[in-house]
Amino acid sequence: MSPVRSLFQPDHAVPAIPPVWFMRQAGRYLPEYKEVRAEAGGFLDLCYDPAKACEVTLQPIRRFGFDAAILFSDILVAPHGLGRKLWFAEGEGPRLEPLTTREEVAAMETADASGQFEPVYETVRRVKSNLTDDTTLIGFCGAPWTVATYVIAGRGTPDQAPARLLAYRDPDLFQALIDVLARRSVDYLVGQIEAGAEVVQIFDSWSGVLPDCEFERWVVAPTIKMVAELRERAPGVPIIGFPRGAGPLLTHYVEATGVDGVGCDTEVPLALMAQLADKVVVQGNLDPLSLLAGGEQLSTRVREIKQALAGKRHIFNLGHGIGQFTPIAHVEQALQTLREP
Ligand code: CP3
Repeated sequence: MSPVRSLFQPDHAVPAIPPVWFMRQAGRYLPEYKEVRAEAGGFLDLCYDPAKACEVTLQPIRRFGFDAAILFSDILVAPHGLGRKLWFAEGEGPRLEPLTTREEVAAMETADASGQFEPVYETVRRVKSNLTDDTTLIGFCGAPWTVATYVIAGRGTPDQAPARLLAYRDPDLFQALIDVLARRSVDYLVGQIEAGAEVVQIFDSWSGVLPDCEFERWVVAPTIKMVAELRERAPGVPIIGFPRGAGPLLTHYVEATGVDGVGCDTEVPLALMAQLADKVVVQGNLDPLSLLAGGEQLSTRVREIKQALAGKRHIFNLGHGIGQFTPIAHVEQALQTLREP
C-alpha cells in the first residue's frame, strides 16, 4: 500500500520520512505545465480534456516523485456541472454568473451533470492506470461554503462579503444552496472514487472568515453530512478536510466532522498539529512564501516541521497552493531536505 494510504490504516507503522505532495503541484511554476496549458487554449479546456489533464496531473509526479497525485481540475467544475455559467478571464481568475434566486438553486438540484463530470472521471481513470501502487491518487471537491462564495459573488472576493450577506439576509435560500452543493458534491466525489480516486480532499479555502455560529452552520454541519454520506457510499476511502483559516475552531472541526485527515494552513502552530495528529492524519503548514523565498530558512523550516511531527501520522505539504513564481530549485531543495535520513 502507498505511504499516503498506509497512514490512514489504524496501527500502521509511521515512516521516518513523511510522505509528501504539494497543493497545486500541477501548475504554472512548471514549464511543462505551461506548454500543455498553451496547447489546450483555456484553463477550462484543459480541465475537460482527459488526455491533457492526465498529463499535467502526472508531470509533478515524474519530476519530483511526490507520493500523491491530485486530480487536475478545479473546485468550480462542480457548480459548472450543475449548470452555473463559468469562465476564466485570462489573468483575472474565475468568473461565474452570480446566483440570486431560489429557482436557480432548484435547477442545480436536477441539473444533468454527466456531460461535464464524465471527462473528469475519465481523467481519473487515465491517471490511475499510469500510477504505480506507491503513488496515491487524490480526488477532490470544494466544500459547500467555499463553492457558495464563488457561486453567489460570481468571482473571488477579498472577504466573501456577498455570500456572508446573503447568508444573513436570506438564510433559507442560502441553506438550500449549501444543501444542494453538499449532496451533489458527494455524488461527484463518489464518481471520482469509482473511477479510481483513493483518497478525497474537501477544500474549504474560505472557512476562515466566519464567526463561530456561522462556521458551525455553513462549514461544520455540511461537512458532517458529506462525511457521513461518503462513509456509507464509499467505505474505507479516507477523507481529508481543509478548513483554511479555521484558527481556534480547527480542533472542533476535526472532532465534529469525523474527517480522517486535516489540511493545516500556515498559521496553525506546529504544537497544535502535533496534538491533532493523535486524532487524525495531519497535512500541510509549510508557508508557500518560504518555498518561494528559498535559502537556508526553507531548509530550517522543513526540518522543524518534520521534527515537530516525527513519529506521528503526517503528510508533508504546503499550508496553501504553490505560487506560480516558485523556482523549481526550491521545490527540489525542500524535498531533498525532507528526505534526509
Ligand atoms: O492542486 C493541483 O495541482 C490540482 C488542481 C487544482 C486547481 N485548483 C488548479 C488550478 C485544485 C485542487 C484547485 C482547487 C481550487 N480552485 C481551490 C481550492 C484550493 C485553494 O487554492 O484554496 C480554489 C479556491 C479554486 C478556485 C480557483 N481556480 C481560483 C481562485 C483560481 C485563480 C487563481 C490562480 O491561481 O490563477 C483558479 C485557477 C486555477 N486552478 C489554476 C490552476 C492550476 C491556474 C489557472 C491557469 O493555469 O491558468
